[in-house]
Amino acid sequence: MGTPKTFAIRTFGCQMNEHDSERLAGLMVADGLVPAEKDSIADVVIFNTCTIRENADLRLYSALGELKDYKKAHPEMQIAVGGCMAQKDRDDILRRANWVDVVFGTHNLTSAPGLLKKALTDGPQIEILDAPDPEAHKDMAPALYAVRELPFAAWVTIQTGCDNTCAYCIVPSVRGVEVSRLVEDIMQEATMLAASGVTEITVLGQNVNSYGRDITGRSPLFSDLLRELGTIDGIERIRFTSPHPKDFRDDTIRAMLETKAVCNQLHLPLQSGSNRVLSSMRRGYTIERYMEKLNAARAAIDDLAITTDIIVGFPGETEAEFEETLAAVAEAHFDAAYTFIFSAREGTRAAEMQSEFIEDEIVAERFDRLKEVLNRSALEKHQARVGNTEEVLVEGPSRRNDQVLSGRTRQGKLVHFPVTNEPVRAGSLVTVKLLKAAPYHLKGELVSVLRAPKHKVRIPLHVS
Ligand code: 5AD
Ligand code: SF4
Repeated sequence: MGTPKTFAIRTFGCQMNEHDSERLAGLMVADGLVPAEKDSIADVVIFNTCTIRENADLRLYSALGELKDYKKAHPEMQIAVGGCMAQKDRDDILRRANWVDVVFGTHNLTSAPGLLKKALTDGPQIEILDAPDPEAHKDMAPALYAVRELPFAAWVTIQTGCDNTCAYCIVPSVRGVEVSRLVEDIMQEATMLAASGVTEITVLGQNVNSYGRDITGRSPLFSDLLRELGTIDGIERIRFTSPHPKDFRDDTIRAMLETKAVCNQLHLPLQSGSNRVLSSMRRGYTIERYMEKLNAARAAIDDLAITTDIIVGFPGETEAEFEETLAAVAEAHFDAAYTFIFSAREGTRAAEMQSEFIEDEIVAERFDRLKEVLNRSALEKHQARVGNTEEVLVEGPSRRNDQVLSGRTRQGKLVHFPVTNEPVRAGSLVTVKLLKAAPYHLKGELVSVLRAPKHKVRIPLHVS
């Protein structure tokens, strides 16, 4: 037997893509490849791409450009491009970068190893399905093989695609219509994860609240699913992302409240605080409705952390409308927010509103002002927790200092605390007294170890 081939996966974009990369890594390992050492060029380099904003596109082509000479000198190495850009650009990728060997779409993950083999003898391969293959969808093997960054925390996809028509968003055209996985399949996957020592799961979907609508033909099943997941022995923390505010209903709030494992954390994407902009974005709710739902969730669930997404500079956004967003953000007291500068994506409705595009400098200035308000709100939220002793699931040594451990509270907040004499391994559940607040994290000291990790040996792997 010769030395096994090495592989590396570079992931752009959202959690859905990160999870796809974990599954892809699992498929490659199952196929006999081994992860490449950090900083070396692998025999097989896979780009799992994103297309939600324009710079993700640019980054892919520049990364491919960097590999061009190497590939010329080492024709035996292989390059594959998967994910949303592959789905969108299809054969354009090979036209723009003819040194690529394989292009596979968002529904073709499981074909990647076979396509790579075929490309060795038959030349470049492209495989792009427009919808999930129902048979492949049932196949949980890729999810169970997944090579995860944290062996005790896992993503579980419950739904692919999106049936909404948000004017700025390219997701529906690259990920297709909403398709829910069957409850039994999701439960089986989560139960097997728990059996392998996973204690935290994050449920993934573009619009989790409408989960199941395509199965029942009518009512969504999301709250039932949350309750079911909550019965699995060993799953101590359940998170989900993202619910759409228009579909976020009381039954979900009740299921969150009544399911002990569901964390007191909610990501509710606002996008804008102006009703005119929300309507132009086709979001399907008003700021008043959004606040009602946010307040209902806060009133029902004790100590709930709420995070959001906001887009700055949507076509036609006036200064006064932007100020409405600032006011909404101040009123909502978000714990954290992901902020995005509007990026025109070809084929979306918003991309056609060219005459209303906002000048870059104005958008940049608004973006900075928004960040300032959000950072203030995040810091206040964190300061209010100083003095608390909270449960933290330890993720391991902090990125910057191996004498410091990092982990997350049930609210999803990042906490750093110094290593003590007591050995604490990644995956342990501990309590930490919070001593100091910053906008993006808290610092504290270890109080006690509640339990050791439940997972077995960790396979070291770089999936960057
Ligand atoms: N421009 C800027 N931000 C976008 N998002 C989605 N599409 C765009 C776009 N074209 C943001 C939204 C969404 C998050 C995942 O990405 O805020 O909630
Ligand atoms: Fe895009 Fe809107 Fe669907 Fe989210 S809900 S993926 S923003 S179309």
